[in-house]
Amino acid sequence: MESTRERWSSRSAFLFAVIGSAIGLGNVWRFPYITYENGGGAFLIPYLIALITAGIPLMILEYYVGHFTQSAPPIAFRKIWHRAEWAGWFAILLIFILSTYYCTIMGWCVNYLYYSFDLGWGNTAESVKAFFNNDILQLSSSPSVLGGIRLPIVFGLALVWLWIYLSLFKGVETLGKIVYFTVIIPWLIIVIMVIRGLTLPGAIEGIKFYLTPDFSVLLKPKVWLAAYGQIFFTLSLAMGTLIVYASYLHEESDITVNAFLTSIANCLTSFVAGFAVFSTLGYLAQTLGVSVKDVTTSGIGLAFVTYPMAISLLPVAARFFAALFFLLLLTLGIDSAFSMTEPVVESIVDKWGAKKKYVLPVICVLGFLVGLPFTTRAGLYWIDIADHFITNYGITVVGLLECIIIGYVLGAKKARSYINQVSEMKIGIWWDIFIKFLTPAFLGTSLVFQFVNLIKKGYGGYPIWTTYTGMGLIIFLALTAIILAKRKGAV
Ligand code: TRP
Repeated sequence: MESTRERWSSRSAFLFAVIGSAIGLGNVWRFPYITYENGGGAFLIPYLIALITAGIPLMILEYYVGHFTQSAPPIAFRKIWHRAEWAGWFAILLIFILSTYYCTIMGWCVNYLYYSFDLGWGNTAESVKAFFNNDILQLSSSPSVLGGIRLPIVFGLALVWLWIYLSLFKGVETLGKIVYFTVIIPWLIIVIMVIRGLTLPGAIEGIKFYLTPDFSVLLKPKVWLAAYGQIFFTLSLAMGTLIVYASYLHEESDITVNAFLTSIANCLTSFVAGFAVFSTLGYLAQTLGVSVKDVTTSGIGLAFVTYPMAISLLPVAARFFAALFFLLLLTLGIDSAFSMTEPVVESIVDKWGAKKKYVLPVICVLGFLVGLPFTTRAGLYWIDIADHFITNYGITVVGLLECIIIGYVLGAKKARSYINQVSEMKIGIWWDIFIKFLTPAFLGTSLVFQFVNLIKKGYGGYPIWTTYTGMGLIIFLALTAIILAKRKGAV
């Protein structure tokens, strides 16, 4: 079994694949606005601490799990502890749902790319907003009013799934070549956007806004939660991708240096992308004669409302930059998207010995179908709700389980001695301390803290039944994971 496993053709293929998975929509719209909302420049402190205390230790752990077991998450965890298989399936189900709405957002990007050629969204605050809400989404009045499917979004979604299929069907070796393009192209675009942004009038105000620290925020628990949440999201942690990618490494490959390289490359990309976004917002503020604070909208709105508006107002080549921006989002997103599908397919192949060439198309079609509710007129609400529950609760639970399974059941020391045996850089006892105590302590506290908040307030000002639906989804996925783990496999 082991000897026939697919392999990366080189170390850099693996590095690019992981970096491609990590760098995605999370770096270009999520990082900048999270940074801004949580104290600007000062946020970089908790962010770096989260990277060092949770991001890198867990990344090393996941590389270890894949590398050591040479399996996708369910079987990987089972090999470590016979009761742990369900934790792997839980991660896989979470990532499957994540892929369905991540691809829907990319489907919006496909539509925006089309409209870039005539700047269909106009250049006033009202027109851009109306374009997003009415023309693209036809947003309904509440999560309970689904109001039918939006065909242009379905079309975009189908294209994205086709793109995923075409990227994956030739196997890992070809994938290792595709990722050079899907990493280098967005990097080049980011560089162009940074240069364009920084040379615009008003850019400095935007950058000041991005980086001026407000140290008082360091005392707020919410800021620390946001930092850890962002690190988990941006590094593609706790969802199986890193385990599967590491399982395609040769037995003698390095673990620790790879973990440092990939996480630092990802976080630097976020930091640099922040300059592109905020310099442009500075320009927008100056053009409108308002302060930068008044033009920033948080969340999804930043990429689909504020930024397109700023681009429409560019003095030259606005259409070109608009197309470039949505091409950026698409090329950034695609390697994250296919890194969500590969673990699902590989887990099924691993457990039941099914053929990848049959499993892959089935999963792509299924992913497309499960994504359809997100293309309805209430889709935006449901993406927001699903994302909240999956990225906050799902990822935290899986991270905790990983710490327990490796740190206690297997023993952190045992894992560390294997890691040090294959790695160029040796890790010390600090890693055990993180995996056994600090990371789980933080994850546990954050889980309790968020849960209490949720019980008190529900999520996001939506009707309370949506909170129950979100919680229900997580419980349903956990139960399904247990059932899958109980089923007999071929190996
Ligand atoms: N890291 C990706 C981004 O920043 C998104 C992501 C979150 C992801 N979790 C993941 C990708 C798990 C792959 C696997 O956009």
